[in-house]
Amino acid sequence: MESKPDLISKRRTFLGSMAGFFSLGFLTWLDLWNKAKAGDVSFMNNLPDPVTSGKELPTFKFQLEKQKGKVIGGSSVKAATVRDFPISKSIAGASMRLEPGGMRELHWHATAAEWTYVVEGRIRTTVIEPGGTSEVNEFSAGDVWFFPRGHGHMLECLGEQPCHFILIFDNGYFSEFGTFSLTDWFAQTPKELLAKNLRVPAETFASFPKGEVYFSKGKIPPEKASPALLKGKTPLMSHKATLKGPQPHRVFPGGKEWTVDSSKFPIAKTVAGVLFELEAGALRELHWHPNADEWQYVLEGTFRVTLFGSGGRYREEILEKGDVAYLPQGFGHSIENIGDKTGQILLGLNAEEYQVIDISSWLASNSPEVLATNFNQPKEIFEKFPRKDVFIAPL
Ligand SMILES: [Fe+2]
Ligand SMILES: [Fe+2]
Repeated sequence: MESKPDLISKRRTFLGSMAGFFSLGFLTWLDLWNKAKAGDVSFMNNLPDPVTSGKELPTFKFQLEKQKGKVIGGSSVKAATVRDFPISKSIAGASMRLEPGGMRELHWHATAAEWTYVVEGRIRTTVIEPGGTSEVNEFSAGDVWFFPRGHGHMLECLGEQPCHFILIFDNGYFSEFGTFSLTDWFAQTPKELLAKNLRVPAETFASFPKGEVYFSKGKIPPEKASPALLKGKTPLMSHKATLKGPQPHRVFPGGKEWTVDSSKFPIAKTVAGVLFELEAGALRELHWHPNADEWQYVLEGTFRVTLFGSGGRYREEILEKGDVAYLPQGFGHSIENIGDKTGQILLGLNAEEYQVIDISSWLASNSPEVLATNFNQPKEIFEKFPRKDVFIAPL
């Protein structure tokens, strides 16, 4: 039972917080709460980010596939973190290739969740969650996986063909080279401690790797996954979904769109994925994302990406296959296929829900009179503007 002074002090605290609540004003609190729900609270502090608040917009392009990366045998990884790509503060990315029989060893990420799109090849993953539930999944081109921050996982290439996939992490400071790998942990831990922990003699560990293996290489894994030492319970939410299936989610004159966010892939709370296939000359119109930064990877083709950063600041970048771009939350942008054939671009947004506002639908939601006054132009001009969302404009 609580003592009387405790109760009095609790009541004082409660009355004090209620007084603060009413002195700030209920509507202000409600407003703050709604803003907080809208996205990252730290984004609401309006403190200028030195990288994006200068007179000029910084480059928002990074040539990921031109990097040397880390190569072990026939497997490799190239990473784009804020260290080399300063604008990309909230999203890091990597391009990983596994040779047949290659494995990205058991590991976890202390500071980032991992969302991945499979470009080619077949991959099997294992993942463990808090509580010991675990899942084994197999992926092929077009599929995605999501491993929440800290969940232990492994990736292995299946079959005779190499695998290629694009990883997106919900933290720009995260490096794929800074993960917590099982071999590294074993190598640092005394053999006697491992023996006591795993109930086997200490000599068992005599020939174990002396440092981090990162990519290991074995035989091509069996087509049917061998049973685990312990068959754990299956998680409530699968770590697997498909982004690019045979049917696009939306088709427009000039292009197609595929999307996956937490409405279809509930475990993916911090990354939503989009894939655009744009015909030669097609334009994904001027738009912005109220709730997310956007990280782009060009799968095929050549694109001109424009970025508007307020205060008269505007910049364009030309992206080729294997290049990456980063567009900060709320900044206006467009994507145009300037090549001579159909191109594909993968987008990762650091949000639970894929939200977008297009310029055509924003304009159409105002009257020609409003637009005429805004631009100081005759209203007849605006009567010719689209009366629906353009989304993708063909050549
Ligand atoms: Fe990972
Ligand atoms: Fe966008």
